[in-house]
Amino acid sequence: MTSGLKVAIVGATGVVGNAFLRVLEQRRFPIRQLFLLASDRSHGQSLSFAEHEYSVTSVASFDWDEHKIDIAFFSAGNDISRRYAPIAREAGCIVIDNSSAFRYDADIPLIVPEVNGDDLSPKKGMIIANPNCSTLQMSLVLAPIYRAAGIKRVIVATYQAVSGAGQGLLDTLRESHSSLSSIHANVIPQIDVLEDNGYSREEMKMLWESRKILRIPDLLLSATAVRVPVENGHSQAVVIETSIPLSESEAYQCLESQRGLTVLKEGWVTPKEVSGQDNVVVSRVRQDLAFGETGLSCWIVGDNLLKGAALNAVQIAERLLDAVNFSFR
Ligand code: A2P
Repeated sequence: MTSGLKVAIVGATGVVGNAFLRVLEQRRFPIRQLFLLASDRSHGQSLSFAEHEYSVTSVASFDWDEHKIDIAFFSAGNDISRRYAPIAREAGCIVIDNSSAFRYDADIPLIVPEVNGDDLSPKKGMIIANPNCSTLQMSLVLAPIYRAAGIKRVIVATYQAVSGAGQGLLDTLRESHSSLSSIHANVIPQIDVLEDNGYSREEMKMLWESRKILRIPDLLLSATAVRVPVENGHSQAVVIETSIPLSESEAYQCLESQRGLTVLKEGWVTPKEVSGQDNVVVSRVRQDLAFGETGLSCWIVGDNLLKGAALNAVQIAERLLDAVNFSFR
């Protein structure tokens, strides 16, 4: 690796960190030097990437000024992002942050490259937010529908995999399906903290982030976010009320034009089938019985670690590389 970028992954030992390593390797991201960062607990641990072993360093002792990192992917939670992303940015690094710490700041772009990649204007020393997993996947369906017929309202119920909650819960599910765990053979209708209005933060993220990504500030959206005992792959049942009538065949036509989205006209797809796939899949598109000719119902499934986390973040980085003649330091 003699040419390319200096890249850091913060949270490299986690589930999403692991997905970053796989995605960067598969997509042959141009890396000259790779730094894997995590907590003190993991300091010295070895992780492999592209047939090389890398030693994990504690982010607390990492010197951003000294290492002059070009791009850092953060996925170690809000607190770590709040604490270290601004330091990295000050040192001239482009931070692509998978936490929700900066998503609602007006000056921080929140990007799904196939939907609002135009909102990116790259510069040295900036933070770009990677959206919430379910919101990101849903936006690939909402964007083309919005362009074709406008959107008044969205009602969505999610069925979110355990991998989205990190290695701890994933281990719990795997450990002989520990019957003591509340996620075993069960579903949990709360993800993240409950807000004063009775919605969970995860549900509010779907509203706040959809408005920002789709640039529909008055979008009405009501979500119910549910954790299910699926290892990987998020699903959602979405009902969309459009501004003008949109037939099923017109809906298929506009959905098929959306990059990053696979449209299944016959049958349906499950999270197991979509796990490991880059594209989000929409199936069971049908005229909604409650809203009539201005209503569509559909079933959306996507790999939450890929187009839901690591893949989208790496695609943001690739878009930046395309947009500017990135000057290596
Ligand atoms: P570590 O493995 O050292 O705890 P997951 O979402 O799968 O639980 O992963 C969380 C990621 O965030 C891990 O890489 C974890 O590192 C990292 N992390 C958690 N707490 C800290 C911290 N205080 N400082 C740095 N990294 C942290």
